[in-house]
Amino acid sequence: MNKKGLFITFEGADGSGKSTQLKMAAEFFQNKGFEVITTRDPGGTPLGQKIREILLHHDGKVASYCELFLYLADRAQHVEEKIIPALEEGKVILCDRYIDSSVAYQGYARGLDVDEISMLNNIVTRSLVPNLTFVFDVSTEVAEQRVGETKDRLESEAKEFHQKVRFGFLDLAKKFPDRIKVIDANQEIQKVHSDVIKVLENY
Ligand code: TYD
Repeated sequence: MNKKGLFITFEGADGSGKSTQLKMAAEFFQNKGFEVITTRDPGGTPLGQKIREILLHHDGKVASYCELFLYLADRAQHVEEKIIPALEEGKVILCDRYIDSSVAYQGYARGLDVDEISMLNNIVTRSLVPNLTFVFDVSTEVAEQRVGETKDRLESEAKEFHQKVRFGFLDLAKKFPDRIKVIDANQEIQKVHSDVIKVLENY
């Protein structure tokens, strides 16, 4: 149940280019006269920004469940404080990452139980599922080049971790083909954008 607005999420590996694509999609909607809000998960609220700081830059061991629950805590705040009110006002919300990232990163890559994560996602979001989700799929090699040398805590994980994240997103897209659309993000920026627009226009 997405109230009156439209809720679209942008997912993919680190270095997939999803944040650039989100900005370009926002312009597309604005040019068509929609009221657009862009936001991100984690860190879409003031409280969430503090959680994001811990998640990406804590120097030391973070237990897998601690990591999961921090992402979930951020999401609970984000949904209640920002996403639901905007949807009720009929806005278009474009969100950089959401529920599928927890399944791909903490589930497929970190090894926590995927069904358990989905259940917890439902609790903290009050079952708010996006209308549409893009997965920007990119080879691990291209992603690595795009991330560059300065890496946060998650980006510093081994190559194998990132391969599992990629597989996780692709598997989710197979499970939810109506909601999740995979875009080939190895292509150049404009071509990726035009693939996104094609999906939006069909939708
Ligand atoms: P992101 O905002 O994409 O980072 P950046 O601004 O560096 O591109 O995402 C932050 C990191 O958090 C990213 O490595 C993916 C990870 N993440 C999870 O592991 N689980 C989650 O539920 C979410 C939302 C993100």
